[in-house]
Amino acid sequence: MAAKSILLIVTGGIAAYKALELVRLLKRQGIAVRAVMTKSATEFVTPLSMGVMTEDQVYGDMFDLKEEREIGHIQLSRQADLIVICPATANMLAKAAAGIADDLATTILLATDKSVLAVPAMNVRMWNHPATQRNLKQLREDGMIVMEPDEGSMACGEFGPGRLPEPPEVAARICAMLGHAFDAALTSGRAPSTIPKALEAQPDFAEEIHRRLFGKRVVVTAGPTYEAIDPIRYIANRSSGRQGFAIAQAAAEMGAEVTLIAGPVHLVTPPGVIRIDVESALEMQAEVEKALPADVAILVAAVADWRAADVPEQKIKKDGNVVPPLALTENPDILASLAQHKLRPKLLIGFAAETEKIVEHATAKLAKKRCDWIVANDVSGDVMGGDNNAFHVVTKDGVESWPETSKDAIARKLMEKVADEIA
Ligand code: CTP
Repeated sequence: MAAKSILLIVTGGIAAYKALELVRLLKRQGIAVRAVMTKSATEFVTPLSMGVMTEDQVYGDMFDLKEEREIGHIQLSRQADLIVICPATANMLAKAAAGIADDLATTILLATDKSVLAVPAMNVRMWNHPATQRNLKQLREDGMIVMEPDEGSMACGEFGPGRLPEPPEVAARICAMLGHAFDAALTSGRAPSTIPKALEAQPDFAEEIHRRLFGKRVVVTAGPTYEAIDPIRYIANRSSGRQGFAIAQAAAEMGAEVTLIAGPVHLVTPPGVIRIDVESALEMQAEVEKALPADVAILVAAVADWRAADVPEQKIKKDGNVVPPLALTENPDILASLAQHKLRPKLLIGFAAETEKIVEHATAKLAKKRCDWIVANDVSGDVMGGDNNAFHVVTKDGVESWPETSKDAIARKLMEKVADEIA
């Protein structure tokens, strides 16, 4: 059976960022997605981010001759099995109800012979307004399927119906309409209940679009890794994870969608951060790859360089006077492998914990691991587990040395530099 495909029309609302997550979920289900963005949608999510997610060109302008020559607007809808408008703003619903066709998205809606699913998201008053309700009634009569919005607190600070349903719920509905089995396990890594909740928990959400990293995806690794020797024993190190958690928090406060992949640590998840707990280096590497694509990856974790070559299923027993040999094998270098990855983040930052010749060693690591920056810190004191840190940020342009300050403050400073770089 040929793979199913949808044409996703993204319109301009604060919930537009969730369309990226929807695309990710649909692709995991094996559904191809082609995206059309209205002009106002591009104010919330960049076509570049959407193009990375769909792995395709993003369509926007009907009068773009190149697009029309290669694929006409009629073809766009003909090639899809289903048209999905997500998020669907009050304005888009009004235009669709009236049959207005003044841009690519509305023209497709008027010209299509395919089923259309609308997933509305808007302010509660706009949703309850008689004009919107009248338009919805009309659209349903015309055959459009309209999902009911969720109820809850909104980006604008009000409460009520109007929130975009959770992306896994939308993905499941799309699968049902396509007659494609929805595999809930494929949403794993980010349980449905944790995906949007994490973002909605971001402080000062109402001002989100004004924040410097809004719409950016940031992956952070933190903490140590535990490498099993047998079911009871493991190899570990003294990393507390605090610096990585502070960086994840700073990135979330600046509006980024942050995935924090944490080794075993005793720390509270910062608000607005999607946290994935792992134990070993191999697990950490797998989760980092699952979190791609990302704009920025900051690998703060103190990954064990080696793991036990063989891990017996049973506890190793004391056996006479023989000390059991501990054969080690090398762990993959997550940072170096990410630098070579086909989805390499635009900005790849490694950390270097050094006890001597700090800048010299960090400069060598930058070249060896082919990342963009190495943030070096002197761990000869009580940095691991302590409250403060000092950084030397080594880039191809030189070295910036930042004085010792709290791990939170230095994390914010680092994220400001990241925002300067990728803005
Ligand atoms: N790192 C990684 N995967 C590993 C080892 C390290 O991704 N298997 C990352 C760390 O998260 C950090 C950077 O690489 O961002 C530097 O780690 P470090 O352990 O200091 O570097 P090594 O290459 O292991 O060098 P050395 O231990 O000799 O200092």
